[in-house]
Amino acid sequence: MLRKTVVAALAVLVTISSCSPIRKPAEKEAAPAETLKIEAKAPRAGEPVTPIAAAVPANPAMVELGKKLFFDPRLSKSGFISCNSCHNLSMGGSDNLKSSIGHKWNKGPINSPTVLNSSMNLAQFWDGRAKDLKEQAGGPIANPGEMAFTHELAVSVLQSIPGYVEEFKTVFGSDQITIDHVTDAIAAFEETLVTPDSRFDKWLLGDDNAITKDELEGYELFKSSGCTACHNGPALGGNSYQKMGVIEPYKATSPAEGRSAVTGKDADRFNFKVPTLRNVELTYPYFHDGEAATLAEAIDVMGQIQLGKKFTPEENAKIVAFMKTLTGSQPSFMLPVLPPSSDSTPSPEPFGK
Ligand code: HEC
Ligand code: HEC
Repeated sequence: MLRKTVVAALAVLVTISSCSPIRKPAEKEAAPAETLKIEAKAPRAGEPVTPIAAAVPANPAMVELGKKLFFDPRLSKSGFISCNSCHNLSMGGSDNLKSSIGHKWNKGPINSPTVLNSSMNLAQFWDGRAKDLKEQAGGPIANPGEMAFTHELAVSVLQSIPGYVEEFKTVFGSDQITIDHVTDAIAAFEETLVTPDSRFDKWLLGDDNAITKDELEGYELFKSSGCTACHNGPALGGNSYQKMGVIEPYKATSPAEGRSAVTGKDADRFNFKVPTLRNVELTYPYFHDGEAATLAEAIDVMGQIQLGKKFTPEENAKIVAFMKTLTGSQPSFMLPVLPPSSDSTPSPEPFGK
């Protein structure tokens, strides 16, 4: 595989699910034992949540290309919608809408999850129907309600842009652009969209002053109430499918039925991929139908329907406070300058069928 990323040689060993493309540092790359001792940064033992490590891309040229593609609206029929339209990297990698707006102002059926830390997901989409980021990236381009293009047309647009032809050649060694190259590059870029260094991670790494007393009490409540049964690991989610409505049924406003759409099994009805709670302060509204406008509301619903628990307003506020410590360093980079279209680039059809 061309897409390989290694983890920064942080002086910690981070638990990373085996499906993650982010690798633990190889033995020989790890910091010498002395350094580990001096930094004294062993994560707190026994916590159900582990810190996120920074991503160090193995192929920076591919990441740069993927970044351009992520921001390029010419991958859509309208020439107006890019991945960033619905996964706005200035807004936590989401669109902050109940459901997304696609081609010709189409109302999408489901809330757009964040792309931040999505490399840690066991699979992609609320129902896990794409096995990884590469497989996922082809979906929206050809989805009639999203970018409404075809893979062939998207590739022919890119092929007509000399700046892209040159860059694809540098990265993939071929004059012929393929959809496989496109999705490889987008996935390589997405793998860099991790958010380390949140205040909570600093606390996990031993800094007692990184979070306040209320925030810590919020975390204790989060654990003692049972939230960590589903929201655990480095992303506080993304690593299992769970029933939405364990104790009480959830009355969704979207027709989505979750995992059963993939497995065809009735037992999987209303099982959804547990969303990450990293950067959750930025990724409102919440749930697959976007029905919970605020964190306070989402926490109350979770307590009630997943655990049969009613939080007092004080308890709820503490859990909200804890969740806001999960906002990490957001991806920061120069906005990519996209290569201009050529005279032979097909015209976009913003108002076409
Ligand atoms: C019109 C809005 C829209 C556009 C454009 C769009 N997405 Fe999405 N994206 C969504 C929605 C909505 C979902 C959830 C769909 C579902 O789960 O059924 C999603 C899901 C995802 C996920 C899965 C995240 C997770 O946690 O499961 C990734 C990754 C992603 N999109 C990346 C991209 C990339 C890359 C592009 C550009 C090629 C793109 N998206 C374009 C709306 C959009
Ligand atoms: C049984 C597993 C389970 C438990 C326990 C659980 N959750 Fe969830 N959580 C989920 C699932 C599944 C979703 C997504 C459901 C959906 O959108 O349909 C979710 C969604 C959320 C969301 C919305 C995230 C987003 O981006 O949309 C928040 C916030 C949340 N949970 C917090 C909590 C808190 C706080 C607790 C403890 C009171 C908790 N959860 C307990 C499985 C669980």
